[in-house]
Amino acid sequence: MIKKESTKNLILGIDTSCDETSVAITQNDRILANAISSQIELHKKYGGVVPAIAKREHEAKIDFVILEALKNAGKILNRKLGIEDMDAIAVTYGPGLAIALEVGIKKAKELCEKYNKKLIAVNHMEGHLLSSLGLNSHGNGDISYKTLKYPVLGLLISGGHTQLILMKEIGKYELLGETLDDAVGEAYDKTARMLGLGYPGGRVLTEMAKLGSADRITFPIPMAKNPSLDFSFSGLKTSVYYTVKKLTEDGKTLSKEQVYDFSRSFEVSAISQLQIKLEKAIKQIEPKTVLVGGGVTASAKVRFGLRKIAKKYGIDIYFPSSKMSTDNGAMIALVGYFKYLRKEFADMDLDRNPNAELFTKD
Ligand code: KG4
Ligand code: ZN
Repeated sequence: MIKKESTKNLILGIDTSCDETSVAITQNDRILANAISSQIELHKKYGGVVPAIAKREHEAKIDFVILEALKNAGKILNRKLGIEDMDAIAVTYGPGLAIALEVGIKKAKELCEKYNKKLIAVNHMEGHLLSSLGLNSHGNGDISYKTLKYPVLGLLISGGHTQLILMKEIGKYELLGETLDDAVGEAYDKTARMLGLGYPGGRVLTEMAKLGSADRITFPIPMAKNPSLDFSFSGLKTSVYYTVKKLTEDGKTLSKEQVYDFSRSFEVSAISQLQIKLEKAIKQIEPKTVLVGGGVTASAKVRFGLRKIAKKYGIDIYFPSSKMSTDNGAMIALVGYFKYLRKEFADMDLDRNPNAELFTKD
């Protein structure tokens, strides 16, 4: 007979912050299911995320994605799961697109009321920061929150954020440095657009870079000499812009080789800056562990470059699994679990906060 597993400590996590409708179920720090419905195809023709379309799609898909997550988690536990089996419902309250966030929050509240469950409010960036701590459905992973060695240095590299964070314990974060202009993912996306690679550009640019060489053109590395832990990517983006502009005067188009090479050179500059700042932060903070999170970790070149720096200082560095690099509900359920342990529940008047910060300012 197949053994039914316990339904203790189950958290359902919902993320509708941008263009993915995602619902996940965790048991402790183990990810049982991580269902994602992507809207990329819908936004593609507009060259970016259209908030009203994102909202409509979240509304259309959320019930289906919840059912999918329950079904998948049920398969892992060998039992039929329903919302009644959950111990709490965690939801992203920000940062993100206001009208998109509202869809997830409304659904989470509805479920809490109907099934008498506790609500947990999760900051999307805390989700990315801790995403490498999620264990797979078998309960295996490279690192467990239980054995995490502090101080931890966090590096967030997403479409909206580029931040270095000091983490003294889970839930206590201090900002060490951040981008003064564009986020690194945003720079990838904008550069991709300039090179005619469409939306969403970051992933495509990374693919194009594999075919190019950085020997034929060099782009600057902003902030390389600046002693702070802040970043800047707009100068790099502008440099690509003027290079492309000059070459496409008189109606000319870039050759394929130029697109490949510019992608590679952009990548080299962006990764170099991340490496320089990570190294500075390691020297300053002397962390025992580095946790990296956010969509740009999907690039193997980025992971390789950052790992090289940590290795030089003998520090352990961790990245999210591929399904937890870009937006996902699993990281929300995971942070939800940590908050559940601390009994940090939200009120039913929880509101979205499109600009939510992870840091408490004193
Ligand atoms: O963390 P994320 O999914 O959403 C935010 O919270 O912002 O990050 C999205 C960012 C986008 O800028 C996207 O271009 C970038 O992550 N990204 C990548 C790759 N996949 C996603 N950048 C470089 N290489 C990739 N393979
Ligand atoms: Zn994100």
